Amino acid sequence: MNKYSTGLLTAVLAGTFNLAQADTIKMECAGFTGINKDYCAYIKQRFESETPHKVNFIELPQASNEKLGIFQQVFAAKDGDAVDLFQADTVWIGLLDKHLMDLTEHVKDMEADFFASAWQNNVVDGRVKAVPAFLDSGMLYYRKDLLVKYDEQPPETWEDLTRIANKIQLAERNTGKEGFWGMVFQGKAYEGLTCDALEWISSYNGGSIVEPNGDISINNPQAAKALNMAANWVGTISPKGVMGYMEEESRAVFQNGDALFMRNWPYAYLLAQGEKSPVKGKVGVMPIPKGGADGKHAATLGGWQWAISDYSNNKAAAVLMLKIVTDADSQKKLFFMGGNSPSRIALYDDPDILASAPHLPAFKAVFANAIPRPASATKRQYNRVSNAVLNATYNVLSGVTTGEKAVADLEHRLKRIKGRQWK
Ligand code: GLC
Repeated sequence: MNKYSTGLLTAVLAGTFNLAQADTIKMECAGFTGINKDYCAYIKQRFESETPHKVNFIELPQASNEKLGIFQQVFAAKDGDAVDLFQADTVWIGLLDKHLMDLTEHVKDMEADFFASAWQNNVVDGRVKAVPAFLDSGMLYYRKDLLVKYDEQPPETWEDLTRIANKIQLAERNTGKEGFWGMVFQGKAYEGLTCDALEWISSYNGGSIVEPNGDISINNPQAAKALNMAANWVGTISPKGVMGYMEEESRAVFQNGDALFMRNWPYAYLLAQGEKSPVKGKVGVMPIPKGGADGKHAATLGGWQWAISDYSNNKAAAVLMLKIVTDADSQKKLFFMGGNSPSRIALYDDPDILASAPHLPAFKAVFANAIPRPASATKRQYNRVSNAVLNATYNVLSGVTTGEKAVADLEHRLKRIKGRQWK
């Protein structure tokens, strides 16, 4: 029986015979915290009660670049059954553009409700290809109680951070906390390492790897210095295991009370301050430190976008779900359940949110100043560029090469990827 007759049968049996066709859409309902059961149940319940359709959730790997690999395969095969609605990383829109449904007609009235830069990220040649789901930018988390205990201030520079981390790590270990570490971050060879590396490099005024005009800028002493600094952390203030950490592994260590500092995205704040968190009430959040006194606070811009596969056989139903997941109620639920920062501006003044998360409005300025990865500049080559960056960074962290050699080799690789121009 094909899906049209199934839909007809359902309608007749339900005694509500009409022309509305019941489709079942496939979508991903996951964030860093894995499948967020409460949130997924909420959107399923809404979709299935507010529309005639049904939804099935699919599971995908957590790492952004691994997810991308799967979508690239699905789209290369023009597979209309694999997925209808999904979240695209902020850096994928240019890469996936031609496989994404043009949403312009369906969502153009929504534009003014969203952060303008996030909305514009998803507009390609005047066509809206995705709607911002939530915003991300890198932040430094710290243990307020421990800084007070050891008479230290939140670190202004990476040099301060390294000194304070060494001192407090030693002191805490001397109190019997043998597994205590100064700093955790995302050191695994995946997209998150590109994000962390861009922060280190840019904080030392080492540029943004590939500049907005397409110039490859990575081969400079400041960039080398930044990578060497991070390599020095591994095995000293950061566990060697950090080279296998993504966001959630970092959060697990920090939230368990086993690290003084953590680099992560905004979602970690609400979770670390949650009822069951061992560090509840002890967590501070601040901008990523500067690279030396002359450096700057540099946060990588992240975030995810709801998009519909252009090969979907259920586009009308997928659009209905897209409207549900991007509305204010859903974004509030996602914020409270997963900690993800809304992409709708009005929620930053929402009384419910302010009552339980008065920190949120301060994040707005961090989002506004965050540094994009070179996705627009490198166009369809971005995933190759990012792979080269994360591998080079990983090699420095693991001691296989030095910052100086890595940035020279990386420049060479990026030139080969670029060819005559980025396309
Ligand atoms: C977060 C960001 C995303 C980034 C990823 C890296 O999910 O929102 O943009 O690519 O982290 O792990």
